[in-house]
Amino acid sequence: MSALTGIKTIRDLSIANQRVFIRVDFNVPMEDGRITDDNRIVESLPTIKYALEQGARVVLAAHLGRPKPGKTAGLSLEPCGARLAELLGVEVHMPEDCVGDAAKKVVFDLRAGQVCLLENLRFHPEEEKDDETFARELAALADVYVDDAFGAVHRAHASVHALPKLMNHRGCGLLLEKEIEALGKLVTDPERPYVAILGGAKVSDKIEVIEALLDKVNAILFGGAMANTFLAAQELNLGRSRIEADKLALARTILEKAKNKKVDIVLPVDLVVGQSTESKEGAIHDVREIPAESMGLDVGPRTLEIFAKHIKAAKTIFWNGPMGLFENPAFEKGTFEVARLMADASAFTVVGGGDSAAAVKQAGGDIAAKMKHISTGGGASLEWIEGKKLPGVEALRGSA
Ligand code: 3PG
Repeated sequence: MSALTGIKTIRDLSIANQRVFIRVDFNVPMEDGRITDDNRIVESLPTIKYALEQGARVVLAAHLGRPKPGKTAGLSLEPCGARLAELLGVEVHMPEDCVGDAAKKVVFDLRAGQVCLLENLRFHPEEEKDDETFARELAALADVYVDDAFGAVHRAHASVHALPKLMNHRGCGLLLEKEIEALGKLVTDPERPYVAILGGAKVSDKIEVIEALLDKVNAILFGGAMANTFLAAQELNLGRSRIEADKLALARTILEKAKNKKVDIVLPVDLVVGQSTESKEGAIHDVREIPAESMGLDVGPRTLEIFAKHIKAAKTIFWNGPMGLFENPAFEKGTFEVARLMADASAFTVVGGGDSAAAVKQAGGDIAAKMKHISTGGGASLEWIEGKKLPGVEALRGSA
């Protein structure tokens, strides 16, 4: 059974002249009110264009950030609406709220082939509470519901969970369909060897995914500060490197479990160290000889050689989390080299959202284009590969 069984796609739904509520993930990084990476907006274009071409009246809804009650400054979706209008080349109408009279006026004035973007759903705390009354207000705005917000399907929030269940006609958009198909291959019968590459700051952030992967993969390659905690758990002295001192026992348990399950855990054998995260250049040291005053900020060349062997031999690869502090050019090599090795691999390669997706883009050339799939979801992609049932996906099943 495919993960899409029982879920209609937007192509299966009659949408001409209908008001179609499309939940998108426009939760994009912003700095001083400007979008710094519009990838999520770009990735939602195929669904929006398809709906407009079919003559739908398109009602887009999204969240941005995590506003506290009454604190909405800087979290309006207005910059996203402006960027979308540029990309689509059509006007994007923007009511000042997502429900109530302001929203109704704009939505009910829409003609076929026109589009509006409702204001940030999270300006209403009811959104995160999966509140049914709020969901009913959203439901009153549309005839058909389409979820294309893969990045948000792990949240049981009103617009992705309570709302679709109220709509007779519901399904997934083209992006959500693509994500489920690609990530589904990692969960259902992945081709082996299946190698996971995990990086980023903390073991504690990824404990559930590590545990789940131990039942699925042949090897896990660890980089980033997360790897430091595993190295420290083996009594290595890593100078001033970032480690989670309270997670050493947990790291030992994971290493033990991996051994029992015959999963190869591959840790760095050398690191690129610096005096601080601001250092302009790094020095390479064996993990057994890290100077007391230094901190490991990237994986070293011998580690990359070992990683390369696993990446070349793999048939399926999932990568989440940078190998080092790639924002600093002195410590970018490990992350960019892993991206390059994956791009050149013959395996089915999937990059899981957030920092790793940004790194793949920054690595340049045709690296991003050569990945089989780069997910727009951060937390959602991790929960998916853990094998969890995601509320926003489950709510789509069984449409009329
Ligand atoms: C994301 O950025 O991962 C999604 O948009 C979900 O956002 P959230 O973590 O604030 O729920």
